[in-house]
Amino acid sequence: MLRKVTTKQLRQQKKDREPIAMITAYDYPSAKIADEAGVDIILVGDSVGTTVLGYDSTIPVTIEDILHHTKAVTRGAKRSLVVADLPFATAHLSQDEVLRSATRLMQEGGAYGVKVEGNSGLTSKINSLTTAGIPVMGHIGLTPQSVNQLGGYAYQGKDRDTAKRLLDEAVRIEQAGAFALVLECVPEELGKLITETISIPTIGIGSGKLCDGQVLVFHDLLNFGAAFHPSFVKVYSDLSKIIHEAVRTYVKEVKEKQFPEEKHVRHITEETFDSLYGGHSKHHEAH
Ligand code: KIV
Repeated sequence: MLRKVTTKQLRQQKKDREPIAMITAYDYPSAKIADEAGVDIILVGDSVGTTVLGYDSTIPVTIEDILHHTKAVTRGAKRSLVVADLPFATAHLSQDEVLRSATRLMQEGGAYGVKVEGNSGLTSKINSLTTAGIPVMGHIGLTPQSVNQLGGYAYQGKDRDTAKRLLDEAVRIEQAGAFALVLECVPEELGKLITETISIPTIGIGSGKLCDGQVLVFHDLLNFGAAFHPSFVKVYSDLSKIIHEAVRTYVKEVKEKQFPEEKHVRHITEETFDSLYGGHSKHHEAH
């Protein structure tokens, strides 16, 4: 029987030092592939905005967008634990509104839990969500939803003060009841220190080798339409090239009348065709 990944299992993986593999997905086929490949956590990230919806940041992504994509992903994921992102500013609304959004992602979308992105001031929201039985994943370091405030996509926690602030945040997020914490673009030493300090799993992106797990964006690791790759991304396949070649060949074959081939065609019998043709000519004669 297929055993679904749970937060309890993820904690055990941290204890056993068995790395956690997480990836983003936004639709049924990518979720199914990730699930079948053994991914532990699938994140329906607000990176859907830049990877799929064509925005130049994650800021325009709405709760309706995340809900729509979460529904598709949960249809494809049988074993992986599916986490849905709370999009821009949602976690900063009133306690009731945050609870309502997270409830929709779980009840309507089928998500296991939600991710809350933010470096500060969100621990009371995380606490109220976890009290309501909603599993929460935190996300600190580089938080793309705050890109306008941060002034760009730069590494965080490089000096003593900001590193200490992130370490304190991580502890507060664990105390608020989060089950895991994404560390985005922090130096490896800080990733290690946070990982050793808190008892919930840390999932790194651009944060070195020493976190409890790693996450990459689906479209980055497959080079699927990605315009730019951050330096921490490893590209495992070149889907853009493969798809370009395939579609170019299709266009050429249509133009040169090489597609469809005989094997792609179905025929009716000669008798049926003749009777159709006969009817057709009579129709013309009558006019
Ligand atoms: O939205 C997203 O894809 C993310 C990951 C980069 C962690 O938040």
